[in-house]
Amino acid sequence: MIWTIFLLVQAVLLYFFVTNRSRSKSDPPLDKGVIPWLGHALEFGKDAYKFLNRMKLKHGNIFTVRVAGRYVTVLLDPHSYDAVINDSHSLDFSRYAQVLMERIFNLRLPHHQPAKEKTMMKKHFLGMNLSALTSTSSRHLQALLKAEMPQNQKDWKEEGLFNFSYSLLFKAGYLTLFGGEQNNNSTDPSSIYEEYKKFDGLLTKMARGTLKPEEKRKAQSVRLRLWELLAPAGLTEDMGASPWLQAYRRLLQEEGADEETQKKAVLMQLWATQGNVGPAAFWLLGYLLTNPEALTAVKREMETLETSLLDRPVNTPVFDSALEETLRLTAAPFITREVVQEKTLHMADGQEYLLRKGDRVCLFPFSSPQMDPEIHLEPQKFKYDRFLNEDGSVKRDFYKGGRRLKYYTMPWGAGTNGCVGKQFAINTIRQFVYMVLTNCDLELCDPNAQMPEVNASRYGFGMLQPVGDLLVRYKLRSTH
Ligand code: HEM
Repeated sequence: MIWTIFLLVQAVLLYFFVTNRSRSKSDPPLDKGVIPWLGHALEFGKDAYKFLNRMKLKHGNIFTVRVAGRYVTVLLDPHSYDAVINDSHSLDFSRYAQVLMERIFNLRLPHHQPAKEKTMMKKHFLGMNLSALTSTSSRHLQALLKAEMPQNQKDWKEEGLFNFSYSLLFKAGYLTLFGGEQNNNSTDPSSIYEEYKKFDGLLTKMARGTLKPEEKRKAQSVRLRLWELLAPAGLTEDMGASPWLQAYRRLLQEEGADEETQKKAVLMQLWATQGNVGPAAFWLLGYLLTNPEALTAVKREMETLETSLLDRPVNTPVFDSALEETLRLTAAPFITREVVQEKTLHMADGQEYLLRKGDRVCLFPFSSPQMDPEIHLEPQKFKYDRFLNEDGSVKRDFYKGGRRLKYYTMPWGAGTNGCVGKQFAINTIRQFVYMVLTNCDLELCDPNAQMPEVNASRYGFGMLQPVGDLLVRYKLRSTH
């Protein structure tokens, strides 16, 4: 017994010795935190934005922190982002993505071919196929919105704006990509949404591996339910799933994924394609409702459009700026890469730092450029025309340290791993906002209501979500 304890203590000490480290001259500033092994994990997970700002004030634009046994180098200078984004040789995207896949979706893809998958995605979400998707999504949105409205035109219906936006866009997105028409025998989108919301609520804890035992059980049962609900999607053509999902299924089969693995992969795609659009539309509508000047400007622009035009590329600079501004304030992904080969990082200011093999590198564009007061004046404020020039054209000139920025906002990531669904997402949100503003009366229940707080534990996971909701009321607009 004594020997066992002795050996265990030795093993733990050896482990700390191997994983502990001190800063060498070529390393970025190192901040290990006071808790052995865990380092800064708790503070990072609680509110990454606050934590990274504190580190930035202490160390500057680049530093390495210890987080649950891993060393993560955080880079916050947007002028230097390309040095990370463009080096897929030393800095690998897939490894960390695989870690998340396992933690969140319990998924391990055999013979995964990310490049082939990317090509297939691009084929289906861009160009001609994009117009077909956009018009299918428009049809579903129209029907769902109509079904959601009170039958009597005089009655208002009250609801939280987050739930209203997320549920409608999720269901429309699900029907468009995963399963045919409403009311046929394919799985009902409402039950998928209800289960998905539970899953979404546990997502950040799953990603960090911090679920409590009873949450673990809940996560597993929700996942099982979703796998079952999604099992038929994209398998046979008569279910009406999109050509993209059918192609994805074929790719999985080619890679040798069994049925079990395919279900898990389909859930991952549900998250990748539906997890951000609804929350983005919520923030946009919320900012418009709480900023009457912005609402008037967007409505005025929308009045000049015809519904049918929304299936095709349209010129909506005011809407585009309002959306860009919304995403600047509420899109907060980490862009994470694993260092697979030692690399010297050349910063834009001439400094050089060594990135060590096995570490992770993380960009957090939300901190800078998006909320950087040197780039965006009064960054906490929603200004719908921030991305417009005086003459109404798109504003692309933003500066930091006297130099024009390539990345002045980065909600979609960048480079080869940037968002494939960007244009589809923009089209869908535009349609949704257009339909809501032209077909319905939508207003705040309390005219003085403020935007809800952000759920700080979601920094790093794409679109932010609110704590609580913004209560609104709506009805079909009367035509006279
Ligand atoms: C407002 C909505 C959305 C936002 C803010 C968003 C944001 C992002 C970001 C930041 C990334 C890059 C992740 C990284 O570099 O680590 C990404 C990747 C991706 N997005 Fe989106 N996205 C949205 C909607 C969509 C939609 C609607 C689809 C598909 C229909 C989609 C499909 C994808 C895919 C497939 C990737 C992975 C690319 C890869 O593996 O390299 N996204 N998205």
